[in-house]
Amino acid sequence: MTLQIAPRQDLLDDPGAMRDLDPSGMMDLTVGFAAQCREAVRIAAAFAPGPVPQRPVNNVVVTALGGSAIGGDLLRCLAARETDVPLIVNRDYTLPAFVSKDTLVIAASYSGGTEETLAAYAQARQRGAQIVCVTSGGILADRADTDGAPVWRIPGGQPPRASTGYLFFSMLAALAWRGLLRRSVDADVEETLELLEDLRGEYGPSVATDANPAKALARELQGRVPVFYGAQEYLGVVAVRWKGQYNENAKSHAFANVLPEQNHNEILAWALARRQAPRWSVVYLRDPRERLETPRLAHRVDVTAKVIGRSVRSREVVARGESLLARMFSLVYLGDFASVYAAYLNGIDPTIIPGIDRLKSAMRRFKG
Ligand code: PA5
Repeated sequence: MTLQIAPRQDLLDDPGAMRDLDPSGMMDLTVGFAAQCREAVRIAAAFAPGPVPQRPVNNVVVTALGGSAIGGDLLRCLAARETDVPLIVNRDYTLPAFVSKDTLVIAASYSGGTEETLAAYAQARQRGAQIVCVTSGGILADRADTDGAPVWRIPGGQPPRASTGYLFFSMLAALAWRGLLRRSVDADVEETLELLEDLRGEYGPSVATDANPAKALARELQGRVPVFYGAQEYLGVVAVRWKGQYNENAKSHAFANVLPEQNHNEILAWALARRQAPRWSVVYLRDPRERLETPRLAHRVDVTAKVIGRSVRSREVVARGESLLARMFSLVYLGDFASVYAAYLNGIDPTIIPGIDRLKSAMRRFKG
C-alpha cells in the first residue's frame, strides 16, 4: 500500500488513473448505491417472514459491528421519531442486561461471520429474545435457519460498508413487519431514492472537480486530518459514517463528534490546535431546516465555528431533501463519494482493508 504524498492536481479528472487505483471497483459500488437502495427496498418488501408473532416488543437492539452497525445507527435516528419503543445499537460480544423475551434483536452482519455478532446472537437466543437477522449468508444465516429465526437475505460479495442500502432497508422492513413504525414511511423512502439518483449525477466520477462537490471536498481535505461535527442526532451519526469511510476507504485518520456535547469538552482542545493539529480541518454537517426547526442548535454551531475558527481551517456541508431519511442519506452519499476520491488522492486502493483482515484472521486462530 503506497501513500501518494503529492498527487497530480488533475487526478480526479482522469478516469483512467482513477480506475487504475481502484481495481476492485469501489467507485462502481458507490455510483451504484442509489440503485442498490432501490433494489434493497424491493428485496426487503418481497421477503415474507411468516405470521407476525403476537408477543409484544418493548425495545429493539440492533447488534452489529462496523459497516453493518452504521445501518443500525441510521435506523436509530429514524426510530427516535417513528417508533414508540427505544432502539439501541450494540457493538459488542454481549447484550445489555435488559434484553429479554420482549426485546426484538436484529442481528446484522453483512458477511454473517463476525464473531462478536454471532456471540450476541447466541446470547439473544439464551434470553429468549425475538430475533431477526440481516445478512448475505455465512454462519449467521445457517444458525438462524436452524433456529427458525427470520432472515432478510441480502446480496453478497461486496464490502459491508458499500452495502448500507441493503442493510438499512432490510432492518427498516423488519421494524415495519413487527408493526413498530407509527406511520408508513413509503413516501420518505421514495423521496430518498429519487434524491440519491439525482446526487449520483452530481458526485460521480465523470463530473469535473470544479462542478463536483464531492471531488472538491476531497481535494480540500487532501493531506489533512478531517474532523466531522454534526449537531442533531442524525448529523452526529452521519459524522461517524464519514469518519468510518475516511478510515476504511482513504486509510486516513478522521474524527467525529456531536454537538451539543462537543461544546462541553472538545471545544477547548482547539486552543492548542496550531501546535498539535496544524493540518486538521473541521467539516460541519448542517441541516437545511435547522434555523427554523432547531434555531438554538443552529446558533450553537455558528458560535462553535467562531470560537474554534481562528485555529483551524473549516467548511460546512448542508444536507439535501425534505424528509429526515432523505436528508440523512444525502449526506451519507456525499461522504461516501468524497472518501473514495480521498483514497485516490492518497494513491490507495479504496477496497482493500489489510489491517481488518489481519486482525480477523488472528482472532480466528486464537482459541481462548
Ligand atoms: O467495513 C468493514 O469491512 C467492516 O467494518 C465490517 O463491516 C465489520 O468488520 C463487521 O463485518 P460484517 O459487516 O460482515 O459483520
